[in-house]
Amino acid sequence: MESSRRTFIGTSLGVGLGAGFGFPSSLDQALPTVAAVALGLKEGVSKDSSFDPWVEVHRQNLHHNVQEISRRAGSKPILAVVKNNGYGMGVTNAARLLDPRSEIFGFAVVKFQEAMSLRDAGIRKPILLLGPFDEKNLGDAVARGIMPMVYTPLGPALDKIAAKTQRPIPLHICVDTGIGRVGVPYYQAARLIRDLAGRRSVQIQGTMMTFTEDPDFDKEQVQRFADTCSTLEKEGISLGRKHAASSFALFQHPDFFLDMVRPGMAIYGVYSENEFRHTAIMDLRPAISLKARVAYVKKLRKGDSAGYNRAYMAKEEVWVATLPTGHADGWPRNAAKGAKVRINGTLYPVIASVSASHCIVEIGGEERVRIGDTATFFDWQEGSRPEDVSEACGVSVYDLTMHLNPLLPRKILQA
Ligand SMILES: Cc1ncc(COP(=O)(O)O)c(C=O)c1O
Repeated sequence: MESSRRTFIGTSLGVGLGAGFGFPSSLDQALPTVAAVALGLKEGVSKDSSFDPWVEVHRQNLHHNVQEISRRAGSKPILAVVKNNGYGMGVTNAARLLDPRSEIFGFAVVKFQEAMSLRDAGIRKPILLLGPFDEKNLGDAVARGIMPMVYTPLGPALDKIAAKTQRPIPLHICVDTGIGRVGVPYYQAARLIRDLAGRRSVQIQGTMMTFTEDPDFDKEQVQRFADTCSTLEKEGISLGRKHAASSFALFQHPDFFLDMVRPGMAIYGVYSENEFRHTAIMDLRPAISLKARVAYVKKLRKGDSAGYNRAYMAKEEVWVATLPTGHADGWPRNAAKGAKVRINGTLYPVIASVSASHCIVEIGGEERVRIGDTATFFDWQEGSRPEDVSEACGVSVYDLTMHLNPLLPRKILQA
């Protein structure tokens, strides 16, 4: 009979290590860590502990979400936002999986380094750099075919680079219609855009804005953008593809998909607002999950405490499981305020406090969980979707995915 990881640990405990080392049975709980090391050594030198948290990427769900977005957007091209490490999935993982799809026009990132890493990873589709850059970065980006998002008077710098490459530089212009973050203010946009459009060094391939996602003010933003664009287009200036729609707008502003949509979160299968989940507008399936193995299981006696500051006090005998995952891994501190973790098909509440590398879940009156069992912090199943965690403890789904430690291993599920 083939032994699974769990039965191996069980066997080691009972017969090998437990008996061999002569520990009393009450200390058996402490032994599986030793067993786990032995397990790793069996196959050579281990790099990670198999207990450590890992991130799973669900390829088929990702593809499903792209189809859903494309259907919703009436087959308009999708500029996939893969910033912040591909929303936790790994920026190159996300781009490589999305790249072959015809619905995907290209990719948008914020960090210069991410844009470069996509080219290094062999991505050939257009890449739009949403974040800031200096003149040297600009030259390097242009050399790798990365389009800058421009909103300041960069004309002279663009002239200099184009003089060297002898080619106009494709770029997108960002207009600030009220988000107040980056972008040329809409009432000054015409001047900047006329200047850039008038240069032989510049090829305007796109013009964009970002919604504040305040339903009433969004209408005002639409008006500001539309007025700005139509003034310039009447002058014969080509603005390239116009785009504004993030995940929120995919749900809320079907009349403003323009020439291309620009979602992030929806691609990863997560509803950016919980209320969208209860509509039939798009069927999104989470393509990212966080898992780890139970590190330790023990019974607390009545009056025993758990967590820093004794955040949890056992009112009666209770089994708890320690998971080797904490806020340094991206599992938020607030998870202790109501989030649940799935182990062997049952959801257990996070208790006490989430520390940097650990959290604790309450199992109940019986020892229903074993060391080595897989714990799912969030995945694609109802009850443990990122939106469920968000609803339970008030953490934004953006924080859940984007704060995942980039050092955690990413496993791409092929099925
Ligand atoms: C400029 C811009 N466009 C699009 C997006 C995608 O947003 P979402 O993930 O909500 O779809 C973002 C992300 O915040 C963004 O900053």
